[in-house]
Amino acid sequence: MNQHEAPRVVAHRGASAAKAEHTLAAYELALREGADGLECDVRLTRDGHLVCVHDRTIDRTSSGTGVVSEMSLDELSAFDYGNPGEPASLLTLRQLLELVLDWTSLPVKLFVETKHPVRYGGLVEAKLLAELARFGLATPASADFSRIVVMSFAASAVWRIRRSAPLLPTVLLGDTSHYLGGSAATTVGATAIGPSIATLREHRDLVDRAAAAGRATYCWTVDDPVDVELCRELGVGWVATNHPGRTKQLLAVQ
Ligand code: G3P
Ligand code: CA
Repeated sequence: MNQHEAPRVVAHRGASAAKAEHTLAAYELALREGADGLECDVRLTRDGHLVCVHDRTIDRTSSGTGVVSEMSLDELSAFDYGNPGEPASLLTLRQLLELVLDWTSLPVKLFVETKHPVRYGGLVEAKLLAELARFGLATPASADFSRIVVMSFAASAVWRIRRSAPLLPTVLLGDTSHYLGGSAATTVGATAIGPSIATLREHRDLVDRAAAAGRATYCWTVDDPVDVELCRELGVGWVATNHPGRTKQLLAVQ
C-alpha cells in the first residue's frame, strides 16, 4: 500500500488534450472534470496586459501571426484561438482569475507561470502582483491568498516574487541541474521544486530530498498513466497534465 497521499491534479493549459490550450473552454472543462488546479502561462502585450499564451508568438495557437509582446491586446484579440470548428477568444489572466474565483464548487488553485522573465525582467512579475491585488489575492490577509502559486523556470523571477510577496507560494521549474544540489530552490526560497517527468524518472530521490528541505514537488507534464503511478509512488504533491479528467480517475483508484 502506498504511504503517500495521491497527487493533486493540475490541468496544464486547461484540459488541453481535449480543447484548445489556454482557452476558456479548456479551463471550464478542467473544472468540470474535477481538476484541483489550473496551470497557465502569462505573457505581456505591448500595452501591458497579461495574456495566457505559451509561445513567444501566436503563430502556433491562433489564426494570426506575430510576437505577443509586440502586439496590443486589441490586435491580439482579433484572432481565433480555438481548435477547428470550435472558435475561441484570446484569454487574459484577468478573465481566468474571474473564472477561478467564480468557481465555488471546490476551491481550485491557479498556477501562473511567468514567461520572458529576462527581457522584461521584473515587469511581468510586477504586473502579475498588481493583477492579483486587484482581486484581493496579493496579500496573505486575503482568504484566497493560498489559491495562487507563481512559477518560473528563471530563479531570478521566483526571487523577485519572493522579495515582493514573501508568503506567496512559488515553484522553481527546471531540470536536474537546478535540483541535484538543491541550491537554486533554496537560494530563492521557492516553496516547491518543479522537475519535468523525464527528470523525475531519472532522479527518483528528488521528491524525498525536496521534502527533507520542506519543499513540495510539482511535476510536469504527466500524461502517461505509468508516470501518474510513479508520481503517486514517489509522493509528488502536484502533477500537471493535459488530461485532468482521466488523471483524476486513475488516482481515485487505490
Ligand atoms: O507546468 C510547467 C510546464 O508548463 C512548463 O513547461 O513549456 O509547458 O510551459 P511549458
Ligand atoms: Ca507552462
